Amino acid sequence: MGYEMAARLAKGGCDVAVWNRTKAKADPLARHGARVVNELKDLASRDIVFCMVSTWDDVKEVVGKLLSGSSKPKMVVECSSISLEGSAELRELLKQKGIEYLAAPVSGNAKVIKAGKLTFVVSGPRAAYDKAKPYLDMMGTGSSYVGEGELARIAKICHNVMLGVVIQCLSEITILAQKTGMRRHAFLDFLNKSVMGSMFTRYKTPALVNLDFKVTFTPHLLRKDLDLGLDAGRELEVPMPLASVTRDLLQTMIGHGMTEQDFATLILMQAKASGIDLKPENVEVGDGLSS
Ligand SMILES: NC(=O)c1ccc[n+]([C@@H]2O[C@H](COP(=O)([O-])OP(=O)(O)OC[C@H]3O[C@@H](n4cnc5c(N)ncnc54)[C@H](OP(=O)(O)O)[C@@H]3O)[C@@H](O)[C@H]2O)c1
Repeated sequence: MGYEMAARLAKGGCDVAVWNRTKAKADPLARHGARVVNELKDLASRDIVFCMVSTWDDVKEVVGKLLSGSSKPKMVVECSSISLEGSAELRELLKQKGIEYLAAPVSGNAKVIKAGKLTFVVSGPRAAYDKAKPYLDMMGTGSSYVGEGELARIAKICHNVMLGVVIQCLSEITILAQKTGMRRHAFLDFLNKSVMGSMFTRYKTPALVNLDFKVTFTPHLLRKDLDLGLDAGRELEVPMPLASVTRDLLQTMIGHGMTEQDFATLILMQAKASGIDLKPENVEVGDGLSS
């Protein structure tokens, strides 16, 4: 995610410096004019630092290293999907150092970013948002400002609970359709053209039809977000039965060792539970992203 975001900023003509733990993965960004630095603290003198890692623990670690020298950035925009509590702790830490902070998690995967369709949900001081907005716009199709504090975090968690529930539902109905004798691509063609079709159902279609499970989002990261949603539900006394069942199905998949491919492998579990040995249909289907 971070790679494609940085690539869009660099291609858009921004003065971009990048750090990634495994530097080799970031090196190709130099082609687009980005400077790939060796140490995180080399980014501390930038105006705005965008952070895109995995969990709150990772965010804490990288921000700690970023601020370990004498310089500090004017603003940190944190885009990973993390908890409200982690985000609030980060806000407090940055406030004490006089650094502006926006919580700006995203919707979309690396391919979505490439297609220019990434979206952000943002919270924090309005003035900081106004400064960051041109860069957020450059990375996708825009951002939604939802207010002060950590509100963006809960919006993103809600979004990803829906992601989990929808992929499980898509897996169930696609296998149901197949078991009646329908081809998966034919069923999904209908669904994608219908009122229920969405950018998501369209871009997951190649995975469901041809079983291309090259990872876009790992089962572990999805489980993290379902757990964050369920934690928030418990705290706020909101029942979340669909999220709960989906979380357990995902856990079962992880327990079977299915962790390294895309989360859409939920369809393989569904097929197995339905007595179907799933095979790729090897039919050319669009993903709704490439024109
Ligand atoms: N993929 C999606 O579809 C998607 C969509 C929306 C939001 N998100 C969220 O966006 C974030 C990134 O997702 P992703 O799919 O890009 O994950 P990813 O492919 O696993 O990449 C994680 C990145 O974070 C770095 N990283 C992780 N832990 C680190 C640590 N302790 N110190 C330094 N660097 C660390 C990794 O560095 P290395 O290269 O060295 O491993 C890598 O660059 C996650 O919070 C995820 O939930 C993902």
